[in-house]
Amino acid sequence: MRYLVTGGAGFIGSGIVRELARRGETIVVIDDLSTGKESNLKGLLDRVEFHRASITDLEAVGRAARGADFVIHLAARTSVPRSVEEPLETNAINVEGTLKVLLAARDAGVRRLVYAASSSAYGDQPTLPKVETMAAAPISPYGVTKFTGELYLQVFTRVYGLETVALRYFNVFGPRQEPGSPYSGVLARFMLALLRGEQPVVFGDGEQSRDFTYIDNVVEATLGACTAAGVSGRVLNVATGSRVTLNETLRILERLAGRPAQARYERPRAGDILHSQADIALARKLLGYEPRVNFEEGLRRTWEWYLSEYGRAAAESRPGTAM
Ligand code: UD1
Repeated sequence: MRYLVTGGAGFIGSGIVRELARRGETIVVIDDLSTGKESNLKGLLDRVEFHRASITDLEAVGRAARGADFVIHLAARTSVPRSVEEPLETNAINVEGTLKVLLAARDAGVRRLVYAASSSAYGDQPTLPKVETMAAAPISPYGVTKFTGELYLQVFTRVYGLETVALRYFNVFGPRQEPGSPYSGVLARFMLALLRGEQPVVFGDGEQSRDFTYIDNVVEATLGACTAAGVSGRVLNVATGSRVTLNETLRILERLAGRPAQARYERPRAGDILHSQADIALARKLLGYEPRVNFEEGLRRTWEWYLSEYGRAAAESRPGTAM
């Protein structure tokens, strides 16, 4: 089968590409390398037809989609605070870009499009866990764009008969997540700080919680959603079903790093939600999904990876460290 992965050079996309390659599938990637990196596809580039272009370029998306059986649409601006600073750009990529990917998928006659939706659609409603039947109520520009993408999927299914599935990912983490940007995911940022001997920064009191989901679980759910029967038009949570606070993650990381984190606490971030935890019964039922790698095991694997990728360089750049 031929798969088009938008954002295939990103953290989640490259995980999907790696698994598709392992399964012997035909892979096309479209990525403008704005946040993705070719190095994420190290050892895989000869297995991939690579289109370096933005999903906002309709012709380029059309070329990439030609002949595809499945489209896995991950390309996006993924940061909540960046969306607060740059709402127009976030909208252009996440909403207009998604619309263009949908048009290209429709015109290419693909079997199904699977979309990386987000738990941010739920906003800050106090009810936990978040279940798909709850009304969406995003509280950041980012959340609005990701939820708008879901609405477009449903309209394309209804109006054009395009099969679609929206997967609401909950805080995905793992090897290859970019740690070096202020917009990076929190666990990646914490790990890089610990490796560099710097203080991790916590926005708020650290008692906010997330359903942190290890990348392998997300890859499994996403590929399952391409081929499962009876899921077209659905919105499904992809998570672990539990949650941990940032302070708890710091305590686990201290054990892994073998030193105190000495986190610095700053003002909470605009647009942030407090707590996030998913009900995953629907994905279990419809996809046979099971989060096989739990949070602690995922964190251990991720730490090992950052240690091998960034550990030495970080130690060398640490002030006063003789190597
Ligand atoms: C994350 C994803 C988003 C996804 C959503 C749901 C990233 C960058 N964002 O959003 O794409 O749609 O989950 O799956 O992966 N924090 C700190 N210190 C830091 C960085 C963050 O305390 O250095 C805090 C934030 O204020 C927030 C929490 O950690 O309370 C999580 O932030 P972040 O990792 O950016 O993820 P989400 O905003 O939850």
